[in-house]
Amino acid sequence: MPTIVFASPKGGVGKSTAAVLLATELASHGGSVTMIDADPNKLTVIDTSTENTIIDTIEKAALGTTFVVVDLEGTASMMADFAMSRADLVIIPSQGSNLDATGVVKAIRLVRSQEKAFQKKIPFAIMFTRTSPAIRTRTLQSIEAEFAQNGVPMFGVQIHERDAYRAIFAFGGTLADLDASQTANLPAARLNARPGASSAGLARAHALLAGYGFCVPVL
Ligand SMILES: Nc1ncnc2c1ncn2[C@@H]1O[C@H](COP(=O)(O)OP(=O)(O)OP(=O)(O)O)[C@@H](O)[C@H]1O
Ligand SMILES: [Mg+2]
Repeated sequence: MPTIVFASPKGGVGKSTAAVLLATELASHGGSVTMIDADPNKLTVIDTSTENTIIDTIEKAALGTTFVVVDLEGTASMMADFAMSRADLVIIPSQGSNLDATGVVKAIRLVRSQEKAFQKKIPFAIMFTRTSPAIRTRTLQSIEAEFAQNGVPMFGVQIHERDAYRAIFAFGGTLADLDASQTANLPAARLNARPGASSAGLARAHALLAGYGFCVPVL
């Protein structure tokens, strides 16, 4: 079953937050989800994997659940490479800053090198995080325009900056801790769609998520 990997060599861009939100949303739409936290610095959700075990961990999880969501550490590593090689979709979170945009370029290079190494296409898309629900800053607009010009797929949904998202980690370290009453309060789960440019890669990402019942609209 599909494996969705959150990756960025830049730390603190919102990978873990976005991964938990997506996993929770998928689960609330009826899918079973295994979340693999491959970030040794953070809470362990299902397993602490190493570069020696990550592929086995993903493959075993993919056999047993509808979705596998992998949250990678914020550095380039062999484990990140291996996890990406097994991804049906790599989501690259990025805040709307120029520094983060540089991180995105590095992340795309890592995806491309795994594509070469494993001789397979690895769909990826950028997901903007910590954006303002009220305004689209000029910096974000120019980054989006540049990515669009270069055919870099981007999700039409963004994860806004919200206290509720900061709070999710306070609920505890396991998916089981994110019970229905708590997740229901997450406005996150209602990732706000907005119109955006489409592209083949994005369409693939959309098809991947939509094809497996992910109901949040993704452009
Ligand atoms: N949408 C958001 N709204 C508010 N706070 C956020 C949001 N996304 C992330 N944060 C906060 O930003 C910090 C970094 O987020 P997070 O841990 O998700 O990033 P990360 O990319 O997983 O970091 P690392 O590379 O260290 O694993 C955390 O304190 C988190 O609570
Ligand atoms: Mg993290």
